[in-house]
Amino acid sequence: MANILQPTEENLRDLRKFLLFGGLVGVPTETVYGLAANAFDADACAKIFEAKQRPANDPLICHISGTEELEQICITNPLAIRLADRFWPGPLTFVLPKKDNIPDIVTAGLDSVAVRCSAHQDFKRLVEQCDFPLAAPSANPFAYISPTTAQHVEAGLGSKINFILNGGPCEFGVESTIIDLRDQNNPRLLRYGALPAEEIEAELGRSIEKPVATNSADESVQHLAPGALPKHYSPRTPLELRGGIAPDEFEHLPEGTAALLLAQPKSAGVKNVHWLSEDGKLSEIASNLFAKLRELDESGYDRIIAEEAPELGLGMAINDRLRRASFR
Ligand code: TXA
Ligand code: MG
Repeated sequence: MANILQPTEENLRDLRKFLLFGGLVGVPTETVYGLAANAFDADACAKIFEAKQRPANDPLICHISGTEELEQICITNPLAIRLADRFWPGPLTFVLPKKDNIPDIVTAGLDSVAVRCSAHQDFKRLVEQCDFPLAAPSANPFAYISPTTAQHVEAGLGSKINFILNGGPCEFGVESTIIDLRDQNNPRLLRYGALPAEEIEAELGRSIEKPVATNSADESVQHLAPGALPKHYSPRTPLELRGGIAPDEFEHLPEGTAALLLAQPKSAGVKNVHWLSEDGKLSEIASNLFAKLRELDESGYDRIIAEEAPELGLGMAINDRLRRASFR
């Protein structure tokens, strides 16, 4: 069992020290919980891969406190500075050429590094106290559903780590948006996430290249973002994705089937039907998504059927996660 710690000054000081000397800590962010280690310490980062059973070719995101630290670990450009000024702290991750102080294990041998500056109050305080970046992937066993509470982290990794910083339930509930900024003239979205692509495009006044939403992961992006696997975020229970689920169907579900609805008014007296939202509010759907998938996965159903979100804004990230969760 891990110790779940409240974000007091004293605990943050202790956690900083524990991280400095190579420990792993479960940490809250505004997107999902992360599993953090000192990014300058290759041995500590190796423990992340071991604890998560994560393949070594799947690089980690480094969490920093702002643009000064950005200059320290990667080669920046005016576009990166502009997007940092506009969207940091917040759920947007940059891919930029790395400097030598970032060990190869963090970037899976790539010459670029993924960097983000989280807006979570308590995690931000911890990152600010640390004079080293924190490498932190999502704190789930590899390919399972991402954690959005300290208790989810405990359930998945509690036997492998000592401490989890409790920052409450995550605000967004889906991971950060990742954008490749190595070529200023051709910024490229690598992962749909909590910051809608439309907001980045509005800031830049132009459209950016984005992954194609298909039933499997976009292979043209897979070599740029090695962790973008077709099967990910997956419950053990088979999940089928539907364009929509009509009342006719969810009112007469076969035995053992659960329905996950994204935008339908609640109806009384139906069995095994679950709502992420009644009115299709995307932020509400996203923040409940992973917790609900866990709950359904633990309820002994044989099968889950889920509705797709509309293909815009946060709906892109929601559908991306649902598609990968349904991939067999
Ligand atoms: O919201 C988030 O981003 C969360 C929280 C904890 O910060 N983190 C997260 O990390 O989602 P993770 O490890 O689950 O996903 C990181 C992904 C990798 O799988 C990979 O696709 C991409 O980031 N990535 C990391 N470094 C990269 C690089 N140098 N080039 C391209 N993609 C990279
Ligand atoms: Mg992950």
